[in-house]
Amino acid sequence: MEQMLEALKKIESEAKTVFGRVSDRDELNNLRIRYLGKKGELTGILKGMGKLSGEDRPKVGQLANEIRQTLEEVISRKSEELEEAALKQQIEAEKIDVTLAGTKIECGHFHPLTRIIDEIKDIFLGMGYEIGEGPEIENDYNNFEGLNLPKDHPARDMQDSFYISEDILLRTHTSPMQVRTMAAKVPEYPVKVICPGRVFRRDDDATHSPMFHQIEGLVIDENISMADLKGTLLKVMQQLFGPDREIRLRPSYFPFTEPSTEVDVSCGICGGKGCRTCSDSGWLEILGAGMVHPHVLEMAGYDSTKLQGFAFGFGVERIAMLKYGIDDLRVFYDNDVRFLGEF
Ligand code: PHE
Repeated sequence: MEQMLEALKKIESEAKTVFGRVSDRDELNNLRIRYLGKKGELTGILKGMGKLSGEDRPKVGQLANEIRQTLEEVISRKSEELEEAALKQQIEAEKIDVTLAGTKIECGHFHPLTRIIDEIKDIFLGMGYEIGEGPEIENDYNNFEGLNLPKDHPARDMQDSFYISEDILLRTHTSPMQVRTMAAKVPEYPVKVICPGRVFRRDDDATHSPMFHQIEGLVIDENISMADLKGTLLKVMQQLFGPDREIRLRPSYFPFTEPSTEVDVSCGICGGKGCRTCSDSGWLEILGAGMVHPHVLEMAGYDSTKLQGFAFGFGVERIAMLKYGIDDLRVFYDNDVRFLGEF
């Protein structure tokens, strides 16, 4: 009997060390079978119990049971330990470091000219204007004749353009939208509309491009005067460039407005004192405007004794150049992302 008890104790201590070293769940299971399984070491020893006396048998049985219990506890503790370690390892492997820099997705944005056009649209929408759009390929009547520029008019020379046929051309300004708007609305009034778009002329240098953008404005109503034109343009310029800007009206000539005026805005760089940007004048030329010529109203079918109107044409590139301090307008069309990325 003593021998059996010794053997049992030996198994216990041996098993404890072995289990202590296990580092893997499959290995633990194999060892469990080796020690505690049906053909395991513990059972192997108990097979010899038949030879023991009735008195000794319970003692051996009791020790064997105690050992089995202890080892089972060791195994279950070890199993938990291994499970926890495995989970920890998995979490570690799947961990996301939110402080790491991500993959940068290049994001585009609107072209500076589109932004200026949108800004001007918003300002006019706020003043109750409609927004219109028209074709870039125009007929001679809408581009010239309906605007008081008959075929042999010398003012046509300033707006030479690209002709598709004798009667069809790329529009030289957005003013044909005055003719189109009036034709669509007559005899309805009031008319309050702006029309942004591309225009084309035979020009090409640092401050002139063969294609550029304008925004046409047209208002027709009763009792419209030059004061309405000036007040409207002042409000727009102050919203666009800042509340301390002033405007100045200079006499000018357009066949479709009478009187006609060139509108300047006070220079934002020198505050009107005079500097290089404004050629020491304190003013920057920004648009053409005037009271709609009575003959233009009559040609469109409006009664010029009852109604008056004003019209204006912004140069979008000019405004963008002044607003962003750009001295060569060709950069707007170069599609250089180093330039466009600045906005
Ligand atoms: N269409 C003129 C131009 O391109 C500008 C203008 C528009 C002038 C409306 C008066 C009224 O030069």
